[in-house]
Amino acid sequence: AQLHTIAKQKGKLYFGTATDNPELTDTPYTAILDDNQMFGQITAANSMKWDATEPSRGTFTFQAGDVIANLAKANGQLLRGHNCVWHNQLPSWVTAGQFSKTDLLSIVQTHCSTLVGHYKGQVSYCRSQVSWDVLNEIMNDDGTFAQDVFFDTTGTDYIATALRAARAADPNARLYMNDFNIEGPGAKSTAYQNLIRTLQSEGVPIDGIGMQSHFIVGELPPNIQQNIEAFTALGVEVAITELDVRMTLPSTPALLAQQQKDYQTVIEACNAVPKCIGVTLWDFTDKFSWVPGAFAGQGAACPWDENLQQKPAFSGIVSGF
Ligand code: XIL
Repeated sequence: AQLHTIAKQKGKLYFGTATDNPELTDTPYTAILDDNQMFGQITAANSMKWDATEPSRGTFTFQAGDVIANLAKANGQLLRGHNCVWHNQLPSWVTAGQFSKTDLLSIVQTHCSTLVGHYKGQVSYCRSQVSWDVLNEIMNDDGTFAQDVFFDTTGTDYIATALRAARAADPNARLYMNDFNIEGPGAKSTAYQNLIRTLQSEGVPIDGIGMQSHFIVGELPPNIQQNIEAFTALGVEVAITELDVRMTLPSTPALLAQQQKDYQTVIEACNAVPKCIGVTLWDFTDKFSWVPGAFAGQGAACPWDENLQQKPAFSGIVSGF
């Protein structure tokens, strides 16, 4: 079974995966990654982030990101841009207290327009479908804004600045806000829905919501489909942008069976909503998953194991479509 083919048959735009530059020397890995019927879309896990693309003010370095963009082009895969503005993986020069509000808004404007402008037209296949995570993780779980350098210096003004800069740089790109813990209903989802209404009323471009979907086995939020529909009812599209389902190691047959169900549940929810346009894994193999590095004692979060063998979770994805 090839996941992109199956997703397309169900009316989705793509099924995709994140990947990262150091992994691309692994030939058995790239044999799966490069199969554009398995993955019709890729996201750079790190190499388009701010620290990688503007390490010092006004100096832009796109070499690593270009490797990912060129891979998508060579493979005939869509590219998702990730990301323009995020409080993590910032270069040290973007620091609180260093800039006035006017200065920082200008920095955000320059970063977003240069980054999005650089990748405009880089992917010839279905170019109009390129999406950008313009804003990443701008809210706390209680629905308040993250107290980061951007919010502390500009209030919420950086949000419109980033979105408008991205729109001007590539009018065909779909512009997203991307976050975790907005897959089910709750304070954070409600706050994003209110923000979308505000942006729309102010004429600020916003096209979609990315639900990262970093889940824990057996702990999916209820009513994912209903929550996707609450967003699409506002006129924006939804994408599942960073799906993985982690567990406390060691993995057991019971955990892998629950993980299979969890993957299926997520896919079913997206599949049921036409404006949920696609699903991206946050890498497809446990060999390169970010989970063990970020959550001590946890792992085995992906549909392929560390030997690049398909796990029960793979069948869960297939059944979910
Ligand atoms: C992760 C990468 O996968 C890691 O390699 C890196 O060390 C940290 O960032 N939410 C996001 C992604 O939006 O950018 C993060 O990616 C995972 C959580």
